[in-house]
Amino acid sequence: MRIFGARQVLWRSFCTVASHPLRVCIVGSGPAGFYTAEKILKTHQGSQVDIIDRIPTPYGLNVINQFSRVAQNERCSFFGNIALGSSVSLMEPRELYHVVVLAYGAESDRVLGIPGEDLKGVHSAREFVWWYNGHPDGRNLDPDLKNMDTAVILGMPGNVALDVARILLRPTSELATTDIASHALTALEQNSIRKVYLVGRHGPVQAACTVKELREVLGIKDLCIHIKEADLKITPADEEEMGNSRIHRRIYELLSKAATARPSQPSSGQRELHFVFFRQPDRFLESYDKKGYVSGVNLEKTALKGVGSGKQIAIGTGQFENLSCGIVLKSIGYKSVAVDGLPFDDRKGVVPNVKGRVVSDNSGDPTSLENGLYVCGWLKRGPRGIIATNLYCAEETVAGVSEDVEQGVLAPKLGRDGLLGIMDERNVRVVAFSGWERIDKEEKRKGCLRRVNPERN
Ligand SMILES: Cc1cc2nc3c(=O)[nH]c(=O)nc-3n(C[C@H](O)[C@H](O)[C@H](O)COP(=O)(O)OP(=O)(O)OC[C@H]3O[C@@H](n4cnc5c(N)ncnc54)[C@H](O)[C@@H]3O)c2cc1C
Ligand SMILES: NC(=O)c1ccc[n+]([C@@H]2O[C@H](COP(=O)([O-])OP(=O)(O)OC[C@H]3O[C@@H](n4cnc5c(N)ncnc54)[C@H](OP(=O)(O)O)[C@@H]3O)[C@@H](O)[C@H]2O)c1
Repeated sequence: MRIFGARQVLWRSFCTVASHPLRVCIVGSGPAGFYTAEKILKTHQGSQVDIIDRIPTPYGLNVINQFSRVAQNERCSFFGNIALGSSVSLMEPRELYHVVVLAYGAESDRVLGIPGEDLKGVHSAREFVWWYNGHPDGRNLDPDLKNMDTAVILGMPGNVALDVARILLRPTSELATTDIASHALTALEQNSIRKVYLVGRHGPVQAACTVKELREVLGIKDLCIHIKEADLKITPADEEEMGNSRIHRRIYELLSKAATARPSQPSSGQRELHFVFFRQPDRFLESYDKKGYVSGVNLEKTALKGVGSGKQIAIGTGQFENLSCGIVLKSIGYKSVAVDGLPFDDRKGVVPNVKGRVVSDNSGDPTSLENGLYVCGWLKRGPRGIIATNLYCAEETVAGVSEDVEQGVLAPKLGRDGLLGIMDERNVRVVAFSGWERIDKEEKRKGCLRRVNPERN
């Protein structure tokens, strides 16, 4: 049902004499999917909303209990274990529902494209986060954390880089009181890493992190923090950037304070966190003794160059140095992936859209829209923003849905019954919300046992 043409003809295919309940399928149960569901349920009385996800667990990257209220709404259903692109094609829900909203996030990674990126021991931060969060696709990562004392995290300091540093540096007695996966906790308890280097191509003024997340890392118990004084020197262009952003000023102040507040020499056995600014990765180095494994990163020093409107970019200076390590975690950003038949802007890694309405091709012609197909969240905007950003994003997308629905009378659609019929024919074991709640209860019970008696798991 791919309709090309002006907005006026968009809902033509839905126009019949009778009106039927609005049936909506949302693909992806992260914040974008749930905010969209919540808004549609509120705005469209009588509508039925089905949220599908490729994994059995709802809520996407974060565990957010605020959404269980939405999932428990009698007009809303969650069906885990249904993957768009393999369990169902894009065409199938589009035929079964009046509206399909794609909110399936960003499940791949930006790449550096430099030599050695495929060496063993070089992982993306996404894979590492999936591993310690117990994501079904992260269980097999099994990163070697034992036979080394140094880890390098590239892409500093974005918030994901800080999350990863925190996992490597926090005492495991504290991690044991969180939701960390048991297999990750066991591996971290045996880990031999003492030094973590957070490497960024810009300076402390351009850090991409937020204050709360930086504070959490700087506040890790018994950690020795290293920041070179020379890296904290600021230029008039830096001053201008800080003048334009309170967050950037606050981050700079926190880093400056951390640089002077603690002794720079670690006491015996103390863990170290090194902030390395003005360096970009040039290539990964292969170990001499362990063929195929990473043994370090060759870094190029950078300098900042103003590009107008208060922005500065990092330029290579042609000076290089090596940083030895046993593991590298690349935290340079996530990337969305396309499914068959979906218009996709490969360069930006997003579905081309006008305020959430999917544009038929990459021409950017806003009159060429896909009938009944919408997008929300990281798949719509790119991999940026916190949970709450997806609320505004969902409001915009649902405004488009509402405007379009008002223009037509809804034809009958099979919706949920049709979808579950197809899953049944394909022997897909769908996990409903109640089924997931049972699994979650059991996992929480086991988690409690671990906290009471860490030996048990
Ligand atoms: C490591 C990390 C930590 C973060 N921590 C915080 C934080 O503490 N606080 C905060 O405010 N923000 C945080 N963020 C940002 C926040 O998580 C994002 O803004 C948000 O998750 C994006 O929402 P989304 O719904 O677009 O994508 P996601 O949350 O990624 O949800 C996408 C969903 O789609 C599903 N899916 C994927 N492919 C398919 C498919 N083919 N078929 C069906 N389903 C599919 C996925 O399983 C997933 O459930 C964090 C981000 C990261 C990467
Ligand atoms: N607790 C929270 O609220 C929380 C936790 C995690 C994530 N998040 C959010 O989730 C979003 C994604 O986070 P993120 O950390 O993945 O992304 P991010 O904030 O975009 O950070 C990515 C980092 O990678 C660097 N980078 C990109 N390309 C590079 C390259 N080729 N070489 C070297 N460095 C490169 C960037 O540096 P440059 O600036 O130099 O380009 C930047 O520091 C963000 O909006 C973040 O705030 C929030």
